[in-house]
Amino acid sequence: MTIEPKSTVPVIAIDGPSGTGKGTVAAHLAERLGWHILDSGALYRAFAYLATQRGLSADDIGGLTALERTDLIRFSSAPGGVQIWVAGRNVTDAVRGEEGGRTASVYAAVPAVRSALLVRQRAARRLPGLIADGRDMGTVVFPDAPIKVFLDATPGVRAKRRYKQLMEKGFDVNLARLEEEIARRDYQDIHRTQSPLIAADDAHVVDTSEKGIKDVVCEVMQLVHAYMN
Ligand code: DC
Repeated sequence: MTIEPKSTVPVIAIDGPSGTGKGTVAAHLAERLGWHILDSGALYRAFAYLATQRGLSADDIGGLTALERTDLIRFSSAPGGVQIWVAGRNVTDAVRGEEGGRTASVYAAVPAVRSALLVRQRAARRLPGLIADGRDMGTVVFPDAPIKVFLDATPGVRAKRRYKQLMEKGFDVNLARLEEEIARRDYQDIHRTQSPLIAADDAHVVDTSEKGIKDVVCEVMQLVHAYMN
């Protein structure tokens, strides 16, 4: 058995369902702290896009595992946010909508896919620190993260936030359909066998329904200060 050395790179793990403000909070924290960001949802979305393009179904374990090794997924930073590249093509707009989220959630339920993407996510842990946003950051990917936050909000608030976000990005969305879509995706993410969406036992749970981004960022920054002092 090999014992891995404990990492000295601090991680803020931010988990929670869609529409709780994880991505925005992560971006604000990264700016304030000057730390790296891991948008694990973008990785699942890109992987699902690639798998769909290659015609691989969710039960093609051999094909999906081999696909991760092809190293065809890349990310770059731009003023408007992270840009997602698959096989040399910028697919950011193609994967950011609800269709992209739905497909990502299907492939994300496959244990072999989660294992294949684990190494890549852990490699993002670099000095001076990492802010990791997803569903299993605090439970599975970085269980030793010194700061863990689980963001939640009522389904209605989350759907409205997501609606606004998608409209701003130019997607054609219907609020009622979006609400259904989010509920279906949450159910799938919560009930899968491997790495389900759940707060880590030692996570600081924040209900963001009535809170603005600034308040949530302040709350997390207090945890960061407490950790650093
Ligand atoms: O965060 P997001 O909405 O971009 O994520 C899209 C889907 O990817 C989400 O519904 C489930 C999956 N996902 C996951 O299973 N584990 C993660 N750490 C991040 C995302």
